[in-house]
Amino acid sequence: MGCVVRLKTKRAIKKPLRAALSRWISHGASSIHGRGVRARVLIPAGTRVVEYTGERITKAEAERREKLRLARGRRGGDDCVYIFELNARHDLDGRTRRNVARLINHSCAPNCRAETIRGRIWIIARREIPPGEELTFDYGFALKEWRLHPCRCGSPKCAGYIVSGWQRWRLRRLVREARALERRTAIN
Ligand SMILES: C[S@@+](CC[C@H](N)C(=O)[O-])C[C@H]1O[C@@H](n2cnc3c(N)ncnc32)[C@H](O)[C@@H]1O
Ligand SMILES: [Zn+2]
Repeated sequence: MGCVVRLKTKRAIKKPLRAALSRWISHGASSIHGRGVRARVLIPAGTRVVEYTGERITKAEAERREKLRLARGRRGGDDCVYIFELNARHDLDGRTRRNVARLINHSCAPNCRAETIRGRIWIIARREIPPGEELTFDYGFALKEWRLHPCRCGSPKCAGYIVSGWQRWRLRRLVREARALERRTAIN
């Protein structure tokens, strides 16, 4: 399986197509990538800001859509990842206009987290977020695909690639090794 957004807790989504509107946010140009989501008003820590909605699909269907995504990317089209990993059998494809949360970008120092609560995925504020600040969460991408996803979050803690927070120490080692190999190859 290619790239999917990973949650720490994984429970099945029961009602996949709920309206994902929120009074806390607006969306528009991002300083990280393409479009993004910003706080409209001050968001208190712990707020359920917006629900991440979409279509519940099997792993086989997710795999098929991932291949289409990669092919689109090779043709210069939209290669954004919108699929969330739900459980061993199902994923959630958030590629629908109703799902405003799909526009939230990744950061290595995120101000939100994604969490499942009673079978629904919520984006929750990790701290107080002032109006105008861009909302971000940790996409939790797998380490093995690190080269495919350079990170432009701009945080002082940025690891350079979009990889799950708990794997970033391994990522830093891999990046160091890759750079050393490049230097040795350039000298010889
Ligand atoms: C779900 S979309 C997020 C919304 C996206 N900015 C847009 O305009 O549609 C996920 C994609 O945004 C991009 N992205 C998100 N966070 C990023 C980051 N920190 N650095 C670089 N690209 C990022 C990647 O291409 C990723 O596959
Ligand atoms: Zn980063």
